[in-house]
Amino acid sequence: MTTTRSVDEQLVEKFAGELISHYTSGMVTMMVDVGHRSGLFEAAAEGPATSEELAARAGLHERYVREWLGSLVSAGIFLYSPRTGVYTLPAEHAECLTGPGAGNLATVAQINTHLGNHLHQVATAFREGGGVPYSEFRPEFTDVMDSLSRGTYDELLVDAWLPLVPGLPERLTEGIRVADVGCGTGHAVVTMAAAFPASTFVGYDIAEDALDRGRAEAAELGLTNVEFEAQDAATLAPETPFDLITTIDAIHDQVDPAGAVRSIFGALVPGGTYVMVEPAASSNLEDNLSNPFAPWIYGVSTLHCLTVSLAHGGAGLGTAWGEQRAREMLADAGFARVTAHETPGDPLDTMFVTTKPEE
Ligand SMILES: C[S@@+](CC[C@H](N)C(=O)[O-])C[C@H]1O[C@@H](n2cnc3c(N)ncnc32)[C@H](O)[C@@H]1O
Repeated sequence: MTTTRSVDEQLVEKFAGELISHYTSGMVTMMVDVGHRSGLFEAAAEGPATSEELAARAGLHERYVREWLGSLVSAGIFLYSPRTGVYTLPAEHAECLTGPGAGNLATVAQINTHLGNHLHQVATAFREGGGVPYSEFRPEFTDVMDSLSRGTYDELLVDAWLPLVPGLPERLTEGIRVADVGCGTGHAVVTMAAAFPASTFVGYDIAEDALDRGRAEAAELGLTNVEFEAQDAATLAPETPFDLITTIDAIHDQVDPAGAVRSIFGALVPGGTYVMVEPAASSNLEDNLSNPFAPWIYGVSTLHCLTVSLAHGGAGLGTAWGEQRAREMLADAGFARVTAHETPGDPLDTMFVTTKPEE
């Protein structure tokens, strides 16, 4: 016996339109990444230009540039005058797509294109279990993550994030021992080391290629107060404990995140500070539905943060593990009071600040 389901044709049409709009946004994201990687946005920000002028400015082939402009004009990112053949990147759009700072959102598009390279492997894991390990994403992930976070650290870490912790800039100026765990290419730790020469810093990560980048940058800047060590966060055992430990988007994708937080607790002096920056989300899906980034966050999780953990039989917290679970994990490790701050200039993250109780 067959059952016929009645379908509201208007809703079908509406949903089909929404679906096409998702696909279009996905393609525009790729075009933004092309513009970022090829220097086209920086060239366009110099002023209105024909496709020939823009291609010459950026040192690119005009035919590709013209086709790319077709996509970005129809997406509303560029303006186009058919009369003069001139394309304009409005100044307000250039603010969001150019420059070395935290405001250059073109860097975010790289995540989508990079993770897309591994989609077929993740789809296999849906069927077979396990996951795609970090090693499969490197070395490209190292560059993508660095370019995503570098501008934010340059602009915000020392001037806006650290001052959220009462007295911390003063303690750093006087001289304390600091570790950044899951430091990636170490730009956060290098930035802090340059700003606070009386303090000493260690960057820990499991990725040798990323650590080498940190060492090279520290050497280039002539910094003698920072070093980098290959070390699993879950087994930290420093000879001398730290006064401050930071993790920036580096807990949720670990194989043993609870072990990492416990080991951070153990690696702090009594009264030491732990600053944990993690994606801003609730642990409950229903609370995240009003967040316009939610589909992106869960998508990044599926294609990266979740799978790199499950690849090693890990906890698989996912990118949107959320504030409630974060607080539980901190409490289970022994951290007492936890303050959650909105992270200035970075709506995607929450900054949790907590202290190891005095003995
Ligand atoms: C999302 S990236 C963030 C990197 C860096 N904090 C930043 O903001 O650019 C997470 C980092 O955690 C590192 N990581 C993952 N598991 C780790 C572990 N068990 N111990 C130490 N680092 C780990 C990864 O290699 C990666 O560099």
